[in-house]
Amino acid sequence: MERYRHHVLVCTGGFCSPDRRGRALYALLPELLAREGLLFGPDRVKRGETPCLGVCADGPIVVVYPEGIWYADVTPALLERIVVEHLKRGHVVEEAVMHRLEVTRPSPGPA
Ligand code: FES
Repeated sequence: MERYRHHVLVCTGGFCSPDRRGRALYALLPELLAREGLLFGPDRVKRGETPCLGVCADGPIVVVYPEGIWYADVTPALLERIVVEHLKRGHVVEEAVMHRLEVTRPSPGPA
């Protein structure tokens, strides 16, 4: 599989946004990624849709890995900011973050 820098998951389910706005976001995503040069090459963004991310409120929900940043209430305008600011420039859109993955690292063993 070709290397990629980010993985974006878009919830297209009907519980977090009953009108399923996630579907329109997911359809918009490749267009934004293509415009920003993020569909191919070293900064490639892999994308996927999912029927549920286990939040089921305040959607659509969008998650970006490897940072483990969860965005809520994502509109087309916010998705554009996520693509440009987070995926292209590496700056998380802080005001839209609803959760962060907390990675716990094992403590070092005895020397
Ligand atoms: S339906 Fe979107 S998080 Fe559950």
